[in-house]
Amino acid sequence: MERVKIAELYKNSEAFGTKTITVCGWVRSVRDSKTLGFIDLNDGSCFKGLQIVFEAEKVENFAEVAKYNVGAAICVKGELLLTPQAKQPFELHATEITLEGASTPDYPLQKKRHSVEYLRSIAHLRPRTNLFSAAFRVRSAAAYGIHKFFQEQGFVYAHTPLITASDCEGAGEMFRVTTLDPANPPRKEDGTVDFNEDFFQKPASLTVSGQLEAECMAMAFGQVYTFGPTFRAEKSYTQRHAAEFWMIEPEIAFAELEDVMELAEAMMKYVIRYVMDTCPQDLAFCNQFVDKGLLDRLQNVVDNDFARVTYTEAVEILKKHNDKFEYKVDWGTDLQTEHEKFLTEQIYKRPVFVTNYPAEIKAFYMRANEDDKTVAAVDLLVPGIGEIIGGSQREERLDVLETKMKKLGMNPEDYWWYLDLRRYGSTRHGGYGLGFERLIMYLTGIQNIRDVLPFPRTTGSAEF
Ligand code: 4AD
Repeated sequence: MERVKIAELYKNSEAFGTKTITVCGWVRSVRDSKTLGFIDLNDGSCFKGLQIVFEAEKVENFAEVAKYNVGAAICVKGELLLTPQAKQPFELHATEITLEGASTPDYPLQKKRHSVEYLRSIAHLRPRTNLFSAAFRVRSAAAYGIHKFFQEQGFVYAHTPLITASDCEGAGEMFRVTTLDPANPPRKEDGTVDFNEDFFQKPASLTVSGQLEAECMAMAFGQVYTFGPTFRAEKSYTQRHAAEFWMIEPEIAFAELEDVMELAEAMMKYVIRYVMDTCPQDLAFCNQFVDKGLLDRLQNVVDNDFARVTYTEAVEILKKHNDKFEYKVDWGTDLQTEHEKFLTEQIYKRPVFVTNYPAEIKAFYMRANEDDKTVAAVDLLVPGIGEIIGGSQREERLDVLETKMKKLGMNPEDYWWYLDLRRYGSTRHGGYGLGFERLIMYLTGIQNIRDVLPFPRTTGSAEF
């Protein structure tokens, strides 16, 4: 019989009972007496492992198997015995055990609890642990859930470039991409670097957001989304910032800020429900060992409307509690994590949309409101994390946008193609960016972004 995954056994053990099957995976533990032994085998297909029973009478290499080290890769042929009365609902009684790859006694993952800090130092092996296998399975399911949500609604999946010449967020946090020798670049007569000699013949960088290109695609397809890596050379050494992270950026035409919020709320609820349905064991583990309130909180999110508040109202609320904050709040200041957490955890106790931020603290492309002070921006803040989504209605008026760009010292000619969208069939439109890692933190209760990225890239960390 073909190889069976452990997940399939948990889904429908009856179908395999009393049949001969083969299961392959990695040894979590081995214990034996003289003639009988047990292996806890994991294959990563689901949270749970499989108990292998091996007996000297049935398995010819019994003595050798009993000496397998934790971490060894093996394949086991045997008969599945249903044990509904026991702790595990079935076990595999081996008739043949073959070693694919041995392990050694100094295997870095022993059967004990390791700290997340230690596990970060062995990112190549940590997916084999309970916590990280749960986190990365949730990550996989959430990615699929997001695609499913947008595809079911007829959105077109748009692939936007990773290498770009424009700084979408205008924050100057871009990683340069160049083929020039940084120590000795070619120079023009006036001493400035001659980018004509560079691969792209102009300064190029890794993208901080696919939004500008997504806008182009939305102006053709009506509703699009991106889902890909983004890069920010942010020095901030925080638990929620990475230099390489994944972002989902839907963009919708003929739409205003209200539509953007409705879409964001529907997407969040859909993906949370999807992961709760597809990864119950992984979430149950996180609920038990990472964050005791996780499942209740997620259920609450899908059952209730998100709160809404304008930036101006939020500032009024926060100002009353300024004594509690390291950074004092006043109209015009950007909200810090401590303020975002206070709003969601102390005031609203659920996700909250904050809208209409001061123009000065937001990016150039956001639509100016009538008051001339604020822009049609929206951030979604969630308990435990703070900002998880940032979005806006975009400025669709050519003259307003050009004036704004000049005011910010940008050269409109550099963005001729972006401005063309306002020249040819401009429409109200908007969208948002969901930080995928922050979503996974939210779904698992894991506090540090380094633990939801398989191979995190943060300042000073690019080992694996
Ligand atoms: O608010 P941001 O900067 O928005 C944009 O990039 C817009 N262009 C999105 C759009 O409207 N299409 O980033 C969006 C989200 C944040 O809310 C946050 O969740 C995540 O991206 N994010 C990061 N996640 C991890 N590490 C970082 N360094 C992040 N910077 C932003």
